[in-house]
This record gives sequence, C-alpha cells and structure tokens, in this order.
Amino acid sequence: KNSMHQKLIEMHEHAKSFFHHILVNTEVGKDAMAYLEKRGISREYIDEFELGFAPDNRDILLKVMQKEFKDGLFDESGLFVERDDGTFMDRFFNRVMFPIKDSKGKTIGFSGRQMPSIQSDTDKKQPKYLNSPETEIFNKREVIYNFHLARPHIRKTNEVYLFEGFMDVIASYMSGVKNAVATMGTSLTEQQIHRLERVCEDVTICYDGDSAGINATNRAVELLTQNTALGVQVVSLPNKLDPDDYRMVYGTESLEKELLHHKQTVFQFKRVYLMQDFNLENESDILTYLELVLKELAMIPSVIEKDFALTQLSEEFNLSKETLQLQLNQLIQD
Ligand code: CTP
Ligand code: MN
Ligand code: MN
Ligand code: MN
Ligand code: MN
Repeated sequence: KNSMHQKLIEMHEHAKSFFHHILVNTEVGKDAMAYLEKRGISREYIDEFELGFAPDNRDILLKVMQKEFKDGLFDESGLFVERDDGTFMDRFFNRVMFPIKDSKGKTIGFSGRQMPSIQSDTDKKQPKYLNSPETEIFNKREVIYNFHLARPHIRKTNEVYLFEGFMDVIASYMSGVKNAVATMGTSLTEQQIHRLERVCEDVTICYDGDSAGINATNRAVELLTQNTALGVQVVSLPNKLDPDDYRMVYGTESLEKELLHHKQTVFQFKRVYLMQDFNLENESDILTYLELVLKELAMIPSVIEKDFALTQLSEEFNLSKETLQLQLNQLIQD
C-alpha cells in the first residue's frame, strides 16, 4: 500500500499503545480501570483487546503525535478535530478506547466510550460511543470488529457469532466463545457479509434483546438469507438484555452454556418476531398471523423443520395439523 496509508497505520498503532499505557500504568487511567473492573473486564482481556483511555485533555495525543510524526497527516488521520483557527485538538477525550483493527491486527480507527462518572451537561450531549470518521484506512462498511482475533476460531468452528457491541464481543470471548465479531454500530453490510462468507458456512446473530436489536436481527436475517448461502441462526436475548448484560446478571459460564449455545432457526425467530404485530386474543389477527407464518414456513427447505413447526402451531392454536398442512401445501404450490 502507499506511504500515506502506511503512515496512518503507524499513527494509529502509536495512539493505541499510548492510550493503553495511560489506562494500565498511570494515575490518570485509574478511574477508567476501576470502571472496567466494575464491568467485570479483567486485566487479561484489557490486554488482549488492547483497551485504553484517552485522558480528559484536548491536546495530549496531539503533543505526542507532533513529537513522533513531525510532518503532518493530523487532518487525514481522523484522530483530531480542527478548530476555527486551523489548529487541531484531540477528537477523543475522557473515553475508554477500543482500538479497531484490520484483518492483520493493525489499528485503523477507534471507538471511545463515554465514562459513566458524573456527567456535565456538555458530556450528556456527547454520544455514548464516539467513532473515528471515515479515513483513507478506516471504512465502517468494511471493517469487522475483532475479525483478526476471531478468524482462526471462525475457521475452526466453521461458524461466526455476530454481535452488536464491542463489549458483547469481549463478553463472548470471556465465556470461551472466541469466534465472535461485531459491526461498527451500523447495520450489517454486503461487504462485511462477503468477508465472512470466505471463512465459514454459518452465522449466528446475537444482537441485543431490546426492540432496536430485534429489528436489526430481522434485517440481518433478511440480508443474509437473500444474498448468501450462509446458514443463519439466531440467539434471542431475554428481558431486553444484551449479551454483556446477560453475563453480568447470570454469569460468564451461563453466557456460553445457557445462551450462546441455544440457537433458534430463522423460522422460529420469525414466528416470534411476527407475533409483535398482532393481538393473538383476536380471531382475525390469529388468521392473518397464521397465514404470514405459513408463508415463511413454505420457504423453509427442511421437511423435518416444517413438520416440527406444524406440530407446534397446531398445539399452540388448537388447530388440526392436517388443516395447517393443507394450507401450507397451497402456499408451496403458488
Ligand atoms: N454505538 C455507536 N454510537 C452510539 C451508540 C452505540 O457507535 N452512540 C455502537 C457501538 O459500536 C456499540 C453498539 O453500537 O458497541 C451497540 O450499542 P449499544 O447496545 O447501545 O451499546 P453497548 O455495546 O451495549 O455499550 P455499553 O454496554 O458499553 O453500554
Ligand atoms: Mn494535511
Ligand atoms: Mn443496542
Ligand atoms: Mn448493547
Ligand atoms: Mn451493553
């Protein structure tokens, strides 16, 4: 790659080491360290993911960088923001820093999480996570968080777990499930899917249990089933929790054994997803709902899954399985 590209990566690698050093070795990092400890992230994982801390100071990284990298690219790096007078200041301050790496493990961007401490009014207006802007080396539609560490585990298991957040990936890792990645707070893109397709055959979507997460799951399922040959399964989170919340409530071992290993088929996810729009006390709603569900079922190739689903629906709605089968056969012929 060209020299600008190379230099931007060097700057990010330097910034990553700097933020990590501040977090783990200095007094300035101790509140952030305490925050991570409170969230149950031990030193081992702080080191593995090279988490850091950007101090509450607008020119500390700038000074470090001006010393190390004399001739510019301050603008192009995305690490700084320009003041009206043309001078630069640090983009990230008072945030826990998650380095975002390329597939070789080189840092190409950051996401910084707001500290939870007493927030001033100006802090409150800031986003919870602040990401690097798009740069020469950082493309949010392409990048997959943790791909470089997860790749050997994805290949070995022939499967990838897809999470919403960085903390969920780390939680999964802590529970021993290391074939874990996340998108950058955006919805899944075709570029990301194509990268995953090259290394495995199955995807398990494990997004947050709140309504934003459930809707994002539905969109990801559509995108994956319509554009790829990847097998898709879903892990549904209870009580609006996310996987990291689940670990905090039920423990790290439960995250693996009770949650991540309990996967739903796409049909089972859809069956529950479609329920949201109906009042199933109401007869006409039940009919519309069942028609929609059977339409979904008609698209499932597995005869066994069809039979299983028909048994389930007949018990749940107190209808004969034969009737449901007739309706399904009609839909399959159409
Ligand atoms: N995100 C973002 N900007 C925000 C909020 C979220 O880019 N203002 C992205 C981050 O990548 C985050 C992901 O969306 O990891 C999921 O968002 P959310 O569920 O709100 O965050 P959590 O990962 O649960 O963060 P935490 O547990 O630290 O609160
Ligand atoms: Mn410039
Ligand atoms: Mn969320
Ligand atoms: Mn979340
Ligand atoms: Mn969370």
